Amino acid sequence: METRELGQSGIAVSHFILGCGNFGGVGSAPEFFGQGIPKDEAFRIMDAAWELGITTFDTADAYGGGRSESFIGAWLRTKDSTVRAAIVVETKTFNPNAPGADHGLARGRILRQIDVSLRRLGLERIALYMAHDHDPDIPQEETLDAFDGLIRGGKVGAVGASNFDAEQLTEALAISEREGVTRYEWVQNSFSLLDRRDAETVFPVCREHGLGYEAFGPLAGGWLTGKYRRGAAYPEGSRMTQRPASYEKYASDSVFDALEAFEREALGRGVSMAGLAAAWLLGDPEITAVVVGPTRAKHLQPVREAVSLDLTSADRAHLRGLFE
Ligand SMILES: NC(=O)c1ccc[n+]([C@@H]2O[C@H](COP(=O)([O-])OP(=O)(O)OC[C@H]3O[C@@H](n4cnc5c(N)ncnc54)[C@H](OP(=O)(O)O)[C@@H]3O)[C@@H](O)[C@H]2O)c1
Repeated sequence: METRELGQSGIAVSHFILGCGNFGGVGSAPEFFGQGIPKDEAFRIMDAAWELGITTFDTADAYGGGRSESFIGAWLRTKDSTVRAAIVVETKTFNPNAPGADHGLARGRILRQIDVSLRRLGLERIALYMAHDHDPDIPQEETLDAFDGLIRGGKVGAVGASNFDAEQLTEALAISEREGVTRYEWVQNSFSLLDRRDAETVFPVCREHGLGYEAFGPLAGGWLTGKYRRGAAYPEGSRMTQRPASYEKYASDSVFDALEAFEREALGRGVSMAGLAAAWLLGDPEITAVVVGPTRAKHLQPVREAVSLDLTSADRAHLRGLFE
């Protein structure tokens, strides 16, 4: 699988990144800590990803209340030095790691949380570290200065911003330049055929400053797989039965119309809807890498399909048009 440099970080990520957000929980939601993908299945998914050529794993200190980082650390300990040297781990901080625990991007919390993540992952250095969200209560100067210290101290390779809008990102970049501290080298935000808000707002900032862009939620929480059907109950155990809040907006006739047309496009190409949705992202020159979130090893099949599909810009425009 192809790798690409993330912004001007000097660090390369695989074109598809393994999202480990479902390991030991469902993202950062405290009510699901200890649930989600168990350790043995997480190991199978990481093995399958590695075999596919995926060398970048995405996690966060809050995923599964720390279980996601711990599972990755445990998996890395079973591997030889070749695998350990090749895997690029990216993690994030902001959300509480336990019910009622603190959150945010204050300097003291960052300095504590980086050591928590290093210990769980069993690493001496984390290649890529992100602000998991914008913190309106802490000046960005303080956060960026703390991140700068982590890079100078050798604990982190480069820093990025997740869930930032264009204004927050622009402010951060101006501070980095003014204060002479490290800058965010990339953004990790939600982006898919069903969620293209960043195309008009964040993409231009990334282009202007040479930042990388990682798209998470490439299947819109599973909606782009076709698993949710018009008039039918959501499949037991699916994201819509667990953590539906971000995706309820998709349950509309216009989205079902688009999904049905998209399904015909996938059938016509002999691939799954998920494979076509991933290929659509892969073909976007503004996107450095796509963060997929499989809940079982077989969910990586669309990645295989996507890398072998070559969509033209006219194909991509046509597919986007189905969702307008
Ligand atoms: N920075 C952030 O704030 C942030 C936020 C969200 C995610 N992320 C990262 O991005 C990763 C991916 O995000 P996401 O989980 O929202 O991605 P997604 O691909 O939009 O949705 C993943 C969900 O889709 C379903 N799915 C995945 N592959 C499938 C397949 N081949 N066939 C059928 N269903 C499939 C699974 O649902 P079921 O549960 O129904 O099986 C899975 O939970 C996460 O693991 C995490 O690392 C980051």
